[in-house]
Amino acid sequence: MTVQYDDADPKLSRTRRLGGRRIYAALKAQISEGLYPPGAAMPSTRALASELGVARTTVTSAYEQLLAEGFLESRQGAPTRVAPLLPVPAEDAGMVRPRSRHRLSAYGERMKTLADRAAPVPVAREPVIDFRYGDLSTADFPTLLWKRALSAAASRRPDRLTYGRPEGSLRLRTALQAYLWRARGIRCDADQIIIVSGSQQGLDLCARILLDPADRFVVENPCYQMARQVFAATGAVPVSVSAREDGLDTARLARTNASLAYVTPSHQFPLGGVMPIARRQQLLAWASATGAYVVEDDYDGEYRYDIKPVPPLYGLRGETSRVIYVGTVSKILSPCLRIGYLIVPEGLKAVFTTAKQLADRHTPTVEQEALASLLEGGLYERHIRRVRRRNGERRRSLLDALDQAFGARIAIQGADAGLHVVVWLCDLPATAEAGLVARARQRGIGLYPVSPLYDPGHPEEAPTCAGLVMGYAALDARQIRQGVGMLAEIVRDMTA
Ligand SMILES: Cc1ncc(COP(=O)(O)O)c(C=O)c1O
Repeated sequence: MTVQYDDADPKLSRTRRLGGRRIYAALKAQISEGLYPPGAAMPSTRALASELGVARTTVTSAYEQLLAEGFLESRQGAPTRVAPLLPVPAEDAGMVRPRSRHRLSAYGERMKTLADRAAPVPVAREPVIDFRYGDLSTADFPTLLWKRALSAAASRRPDRLTYGRPEGSLRLRTALQAYLWRARGIRCDADQIIIVSGSQQGLDLCARILLDPADRFVVENPCYQMARQVFAATGAVPVSVSAREDGLDTARLARTNASLAYVTPSHQFPLGGVMPIARRQQLLAWASATGAYVVEDDYDGEYRYDIKPVPPLYGLRGETSRVIYVGTVSKILSPCLRIGYLIVPEGLKAVFTTAKQLADRHTPTVEQEALASLLEGGLYERHIRRVRRRNGERRRSLLDALDQAFGARIAIQGADAGLHVVVWLCDLPATAEAGLVARARQRGIGLYPVSPLYDPGHPEEAPTCAGLVMGYAALDARQIRQGVGMLAEIVRDMTA
């Protein structure tokens, strides 16, 4: 749908026009989705403008357009309200939708579907205390170490500036090989390691190299959506398999007729289960019997607290030909670095290297050298011990705060490992998640519901009570206590 109102007003500055358009689009989407239900009072233009940090006129122009289109109503002296009867959007009223100007490939169409489904720009302010999973604390980044390593790497003066090796620097792959053997008990050759731009690129390469349209692939239910989507982007069909306390229910694999399984066996995302050895063996037996590949995402294997490290699937029972191991520095150093690594079976080295080369030539060289020097000098592992201790303290603060605020009215899953927990709020039904998240956002708290990580095609697996994926690695103890205190207040209000 096109928005013409602000383009038509030459008096509005370009920034204000863009801001007004975004606010208009976000409000319209939120009204249509019931976040502002029919008849509800809208925030005053002054309050919303100050919350969003924009000029009041920017919000006013968005409101005026929504009034003109019948989404809002206003009466003198009364707050602007959502119209009791919302207008039917043109596309729903049987009007012909203008065809996209762009002819897209089947892949492009799948991207478009994902983009259309993506959440609208949130109107509320950025959260002050954000439990977003995946973020780390800036204070934990080893700035001095990294600066030194980076500066040393950048100061090396080769004869010429040239492209690096697509599979990554030999120095880094050798350092990683030694690290993976020491830290994760993995034995592999350095030339089986491919350096990628974050695990996400590793998953993308696996998807494109190992799946064809209409192939079937297994994903855990619930699951890491970025993995599900990147595999489905090939046109392959996801088959969700339940993953509750102990990770993927491997007994169900036989009926899936899948050619690939994506798993997080060391710390199931998001529920946190650690796959027991019997299931691991069953998974590998299935892979070797059917010729399927197993993509093992060991995204936060370095973080375990009260339990012993679990050996990865890669190399278990000597199985190295069906498993692709995916690792990352996103949880140890920073997700901004975009450095990850794959261990691929001997017979797939060349094809992965070529695909990586075609994707982006190689991961930035200077950063690879800097990381190699941290690994070689033992500084990376020293840093792991430091962040593991700090995150262990944050985890303790979160568990204590949750216990104090909720006692037995919540259930916590997945606290033994990783950088997040799943909190089940037993007093609230799953349908209350969106409302809870919206109320928290209004109070400056970032919360993330668990339901969207479940496959809607399996309603029998859907959670019955509200759940949150709570990341804690970017927060300090005070913020954690404050955030949990506010969460408790909101839940109390909602259950009163
Ligand atoms: C299950 C899972 N895998 C992988 C990653 C890391 O991805 P990347 O290495 O692309 O930053 C995350 C990040 O949150 C994750 O949750």
